[in-house]
Amino acid sequence: MQHISRFLEQYPDVRYIFTGGKGGVGKTVCAAVMAYEFARRGQKTLLASLNPVHSLSSIFDQNLGGGQIQPVSGVDNLYAVEVDASDVVARYRENIAVRVREFLRYADIPVDAKPFIDIAVTNPAFEESAMFDKMVDIMLTEGPNYDKLIFDTAAVANAVRLIGLSKIYGLWLARMIESRKEALSLRVQLAFRREKIMEEVKKDPMLADLISMDERFKAVKQRLVDPQQTAFFFVTLPLMLPISVVTRFIQMVRAYDIPVGGVLVNGVIRGEEAARATEDEYLQNKFTEQAQYMRIIQEQLGDLVRGYLPLYNRELQGLESVKQAADDLFNPDQEWALTLVS
Ligand SMILES: Nc1ncnc2c1ncn2[C@@H]1O[C@H](COP(=O)(O)OP(=O)(O)OP(=O)(O)O)[C@@H](O)[C@H]1O
Ligand SMILES: [Mg+2]
Repeated sequence: MQHISRFLEQYPDVRYIFTGGKGGVGKTVCAAVMAYEFARRGQKTLLASLNPVHSLSSIFDQNLGGGQIQPVSGVDNLYAVEVDASDVVARYRENIAVRVREFLRYADIPVDAKPFIDIAVTNPAFEESAMFDKMVDIMLTEGPNYDKLIFDTAAVANAVRLIGLSKIYGLWLARMIESRKEALSLRVQLAFRREKIMEEVKKDPMLADLISMDERFKAVKQRLVDPQQTAFFFVTLPLMLPISVVTRFIQMVRAYDIPVGGVLVNGVIRGEEAARATEDEYLQNKFTEQAQYMRIIQEQLGDLVRGYLPLYNRELQGLESVKQAADDLFNPDQEWALTLVS
C-alpha cells in the first residue's frame, strides 16, 4: 500500500482532485478532510460541492451556502463553495434555449423552437450535465487561482462520458468546419487570406458556439487525463456493495485514461476499540464481518489503497472532527487497520 502522503510526494503538483464512490460512503468527509489537510500545509485550496444536496455546511458546521466561493472560517487557505443546482440548471436551460433559437433562425427553419428546447432540457441527465458544465467552468476559471481544487461530486460517470464524447465530437466538428469552408463561395475564399476564411466560418453562430465548446472540452480533457494534474480518489466502506462500485468505477475511468489517485477505506473499526467493547455484540459482529471485507479490499484493490479512516462514534461535524480525521488519514502509520488483514 502506498499511503496518501507518499502519493502526494510523488505527485506534488496534482491540482484537481475528485472523490467518487457509492452513496453515503464518506465522499464528502474524505473531500473535506483532504481539503483541510492541504490548507493546513499552506496550500490555497478550494473545496467545491456539486451535489444536488450539499453537506459542506454541515461538516464544517458553518453556512457555506449561497453559491459563492467563501473562506472557511477557522482554517487559513481554505475556501469552499456549494454550487446552487437550481441556479445552474436555470442558466444552462436558458443557454440551451438561446442556442436552439439561434440555430433555427440561422438555418432559416421556420418552426416553433419551444418543443425542441423542451426535448433538450427535460432529459433525465440534464441536471447532471448542467452541474458537469459548471465543474468545467470552475476548473477553467478558478484553476489558476488555487493550488488545489477538490470536487465533491457524483459526476464520475459524467467525466468519463465527456471524454468519450469529445473524441467523436472533435471528429464531427472538424467535418462541420470543413464543409462550412467549402460552402463559402470561391469568391469569398479568394478574397480572404487563409486565416480570414476561419474568421468567416466562425460567423456562423452555431458553429462558433460549437468551436468554443470544443475548445473548453479540450482544455478540460487535457487536464483530466494528466496524472501530474488530476487524481480521482474512490471511497469505500469495508462492505461488499461499496467495494464493487469502486471496482467498477476504477475500470471505467482507467478505460478513458483518467488517473486514479487511489482508494480510501472509510469507517474501519479499530481493533482496540472492538477489544474494549467486549459487551457490545453488534460491534463484535461488525468487526468480524469487516475483517473479511478488509481482506477482499486487500486482494482486489491492495496496491491502490491510500489510507484508512476509522469509524468514529459520531458523525463528523465541526472543525475539530475534520481535524481529527485529517490527523488519522494522513498519519503514515496505518498499522491499526492492517492488523485486520494480517
Ligand atoms: N468514519 C466515519 N465515522 C463516523 N461517521 C462517518 C464517518 N464517515 C462518514 N460518516 C458520516 O456518515 C454520513 C455520510 O458521510 P458523507 O456525507 O461523507 O457520505 P457521502 O458519500 O458524501 O454521501 P452522499 O452520497 O450522500 O453524498 C455523514 O453523516 C458523516 O458524518
Ligand atoms: Mg456527499
